[in-house]
Amino acid sequence: MLIIKEPGKFQNVMRRIKINNSIGFVPTMGALHEGHLSLIRRARRENDIVAVSIFVNPAQFGPREDLKKYPRPLARDLKLCGKEKVDFVFLPSAEDIYPKGYSTFVEVNSLSGVLCGRSRPGHFKGVSTVVNKLLNIVGPDTLYLGRKDAQQATVIRRMVLDLNIPVKVRVMPIIRDNTGLALSSRNAYLNDGERNEALVLSQALKLAESLIKKGARDPIKVILKMRRLIAMKKTAKIDYAEIVDRESLKPVSKIQGNCLVMLAVFIGRTRLIDNLEINMTDLLGSPGRKGG
Ligand code: PAJ
Repeated sequence: MLIIKEPGKFQNVMRRIKINNSIGFVPTMGALHEGHLSLIRRARRENDIVAVSIFVNPAQFGPREDLKKYPRPLARDLKLCGKEKVDFVFLPSAEDIYPKGYSTFVEVNSLSGVLCGRSRPGHFKGVSTVVNKLLNIVGPDTLYLGRKDAQQATVIRRMVLDLNIPVKVRVMPIIRDNTGLALSSRNAYLNDGERNEALVLSQALKLAESLIKKGARDPIKVILKMRRLIAMKKTAKIDYAEIVDRESLKPVSKIQGNCLVMLAVFIGRTRLIDNLEINMTDLLGSPGRKGG
């Protein structure tokens, strides 16, 4: 496994490799867990070469957010990458990515100001800018993202489409622990009590799923029931609970087709996100059956 810090060097190496090999790329901010590893394993299966970046991107953190205390267990991360047979790790510094005088940003307008973008202004501008830069540096055939960050995946897919970036985007399922909690580097901030209360996110999504399976089609009613469940937890405070169209991220007026049930909840001081993808055909079983 080769670890390269310098963007120009990484770009040169990748350019040479690309001639004869397919490259799968997994961008991360480190503190790797099974969620990240699921993407790396998929990339390993589908490509000749796997590149992983580890970069805690300052541009996607707000001034009062957790940039400083974001976990950075680098030695452990590199060991995990080695174990998963990653070929190249890109490990730039903030100065490498945003040198003095840096002034170019990419913003996916209509998708960046809603949901997480409302409570984290500038966040998706930071994400799309860094992912664009990383794609230029790595030049992969396929980019692997997790559906855990569903809005991020929608924003990046839109950017790739809009800017004609020659890469395939693969969005992989959410990995959860055995209690149902979606794995996240930020789960490390939770104490035992909070970890228990955090289960309410996946429980609320399960409730939504069962209501929809039983025929609920009014998003307002489903969201109300989710809100009631979450309100029963002492430390939980809802940031948003919405049912939106998967591509436009606009709230739907009726639950049908492909939509996402999106949830962001503060558990104490930690903001957690989770979501459920609704595919009506899958949910209702046989394709011919209609939901009421
Ligand atoms: P990070 O939070 O480290 O996540 C890296 C990738 O892992 C993302 O695509 C994310 O969706 C995926 N991931 C995280 N938890 C997951 C889970 N439980 N199941 C499946 N996939 C999961 O997302 C970022 O970093 C950054 O915004 C980044 C794209 C690297 C740009 O800075």
